[in-house]
Amino acid sequence: MPEFNVRDKVFFITGGASGIGRGLAEGVLARQGKVFFIDVQEEAGQEAQNELAATYGAINVRFGKADVTNREGFQETFNLAVTIFGKVDVMVNNAGIVRETRPAQVIAVNLLGAIYGTEIAMAHMRKDHGGRGGRVVNISSLYGLIESPFLPVYGATKQGIRSYTQSLSLSPKLEEIGVEYATLHPDGVQTSLVLNVQPGDILYLEELTKQFEEKYLQMEKLVDAFFQLVSLEKMNGAALLVKHGTKTFVELSLEEKGDTFTVKPRL
Ligand SMILES: NC(=O)c1ccc[n+]([C@@H]2O[C@H](COP(=O)([O-])OP(=O)(O)OC[C@H]3O[C@@H](n4cnc5c(N)ncnc54)[C@H](O)[C@@H]3O)[C@@H](O)[C@H]2O)c1
Repeated sequence: MPEFNVRDKVFFITGGASGIGRGLAEGVLARQGKVFFIDVQEEAGQEAQNELAATYGAINVRFGKADVTNREGFQETFNLAVTIFGKVDVMVNNAGIVRETRPAQVIAVNLLGAIYGTEIAMAHMRKDHGGRGGRVVNISSLYGLIESPFLPVYGATKQGIRSYTQSLSLSPKLEEIGVEYATLHPDGVQTSLVLNVQPGDILYLEELTKQFEEKYLQMEKLVDAFFQLVSLEKMNGAALLVKHGTKTFVELSLEEKGDTFTVKPRL
């Protein structure tokens, strides 16, 4: 079976007006795919659409304003993407926030939003209901794999995304449904998420700043890693951890040995 080719595939990306989502949207267009992206930031979204359209062609990219926590509005923009492009092949649930003082909001955007997006995409893609099949990539984090004292709420949502997505990948009806699931786990990338933190958004910020060695992951490296993941011949169940200088597929079906669990590299 050939590897999954991005060319002519339609990607739906949440939180695409800035940062990683914007980087991924550009990556899709550069590989001759098509993108519909949504964001709560209307002005930034329109601007991103105009800039991307100027380089890659207006027929290949569209922005819609939507909030991932509002299921109806989310569904409407997804329907619009299907009307414009005829289908969605890859769903990327990327929208996310860091705000430790507002747990309900963080859970709603990061976790519930990703679950809504996965459900909406799956209903469209599933082959057993007349769809063409497809792929869902949910953006977790390094903190979806390990714990951090600085981001307990954020980490809980990212571990939740990992658990939710990997649980779906274990479906006994996978072949019939024809939808594959994977998670991407980036380390720190210099986006507004980390550069514009307000007091309280991250706990013990002073301690974190002292520890932090400014080893950010380059956006370019992350975008390449994303396309390595999404182009896998079989993507289902993959979890790709991308750190500064390294990239590892992690095996998430933990193996129980007596009282211990082991996590093994996949590749
Ligand atoms: N930057 C990092 O260090 C890092 C590391 C690991 C994982 N991540 C994850 O990557 C994803 C993207 O983050 P980023 O770093 O690009 O941040 P970012 O702030 O640059 O981008 C996030 C985008 O999501 C949008 N958004 C926020 N709430 C939304 C909502 N309710 N509905 C729709 N859109 C919404 C924002 O407007 C923004 O454009 C997030 O899920 C984040 O948790 C980021």
